[in-house]
Amino acid sequence: LDNGLMRTPPMGWLAWERFRCDIDCQNDPKNCISEVLFRDMADRLAEDGWRELGYVYVNIDDCWAAMDRDSNGRLQADPKRFPSGIPKLASYIHDRGLKLGIYGDMGTLTCGGYPGTPLDKITIDAQTFADWKVDMLKFDGCYSNATEQEQGEEGRRVGGMSKGRVGMDILKVETTGDKWFTQPSAACLTQTLFFLIGYPAMSKALNATGRPIGYSCSWPAYQGGLPPKVNYTQLGEICNLWRNYGDIEDSWNSVLSIADWFFNNQDVLQPAAGPGRWNDPDMLVVGDFGLSMDQSRSQMAMWAIMAAPLFMSNDLRTISSGARTILQNKVAIGINQDPMGVQGRRLIKEKSGIEVFWRPLSDKASALVFFSRRTDMPYRYQTSLGQLNYTTGSYKIYDVFAEREMPTLKDSTHFVVSINPSGVVMWYISAPAGQDQENTHVGGKL
Ligand code: DGJ
Repeated sequence: LDNGLMRTPPMGWLAWERFRCDIDCQNDPKNCISEVLFRDMADRLAEDGWRELGYVYVNIDDCWAAMDRDSNGRLQADPKRFPSGIPKLASYIHDRGLKLGIYGDMGTLTCGGYPGTPLDKITIDAQTFADWKVDMLKFDGCYSNATEQEQGEEGRRVGGMSKGRVGMDILKVETTGDKWFTQPSAACLTQTLFFLIGYPAMSKALNATGRPIGYSCSWPAYQGGLPPKVNYTQLGEICNLWRNYGDIEDSWNSVLSIADWFFNNQDVLQPAAGPGRWNDPDMLVVGDFGLSMDQSRSQMAMWAIMAAPLFMSNDLRTISSGARTILQNKVAIGINQDPMGVQGRRLIKEKSGIEVFWRPLSDKASALVFFSRRTDMPYRYQTSLGQLNYTTGSYKIYDVFAEREMPTLKDSTHFVVSINPSGVVMWYISAPAGQDQENTHVGGKL
């Protein structure tokens, strides 16, 4: 979306994966979704070196709202958990040089069952967020089919297909015996129609408020994430970022299945991204409970290659120094934030379980990631830059996580990298020295 915002992938913190819909402030006051949590995270971002590295968004997710709109039909925050109100929270966050993100849902209810933003509420909700001085909106897609739009409360209890994600938007019709046929259900078609109207309408409504508000669309995640159902040209015109796929969880399995889906579909997804419009493989779970240090480096490296938004969902009050070092790695962040904004690709998927990812960067530089899916021991992978489609020349290499310069490599030099199980080696590669610096990489389809 060409609104001048998010010319590089947005960075910050988002509540959902780590804190979900914990509303039990009585028994769990430090972790429940309340203004205390967001103020705490804002303090950490501002005081522990995150803000200076670009992590500036403090984003509220689901379960912030009161169950009812106010007498003017406006959304309001839960008065017990946000007694000071969102505008006060916004100024607390702005005072610390940070930005505030909020969450809405293009349907009768949010996924968590809080008031949504059906079509007739889009204008008023966009205006409310702007009045509150919100800087970003994540617009989810639960409870968005016609039945649910009419049923309201009923839709929430019944749930139904609008909650379904990738691959679930079909109705299975049993016929004779064990044969199954699939056909689009009426509800799915109306959901598609509501999305087609609602997501662009919110984009217009936000723009009409005159306040710069970054716009994150969950639309493709509810439509299977791929063409022909998903139109990435249109998404790039109306949204700054979009969730393409299912929700991340705090496990390596979840991180890996998301990365696999994105790289398996890179021919569709990679060209969709660019300054102001980003694919969003979901939050960073580095610093939580599910990933080893190697797996944490792998998530950081793959998200950097993918030009992914970097929203951490962890507890910045108690994060380990190991996780912090990974998330605060300046060169990894620099690769993610490269101003050219070209998303990277998987170059090679070896039978051995090694994969190589590559991203072109400004100033004729590039990044390479060697990743191992193996589960035995560090694997010694032998290759050369020439085999990775680099053209003739000699290249300066910086090992991003080891934080050290490597000996210069010629395109023809064979080298060995040792890659830990479920780990990565990530390199920043400068333009080749002393020659025509055009086309340092001829591979890929960029
Ligand atoms: C589904 C989204 O994909 C998640 O990121 C989160 O926002 C939940 N809904 C909240 O209910």
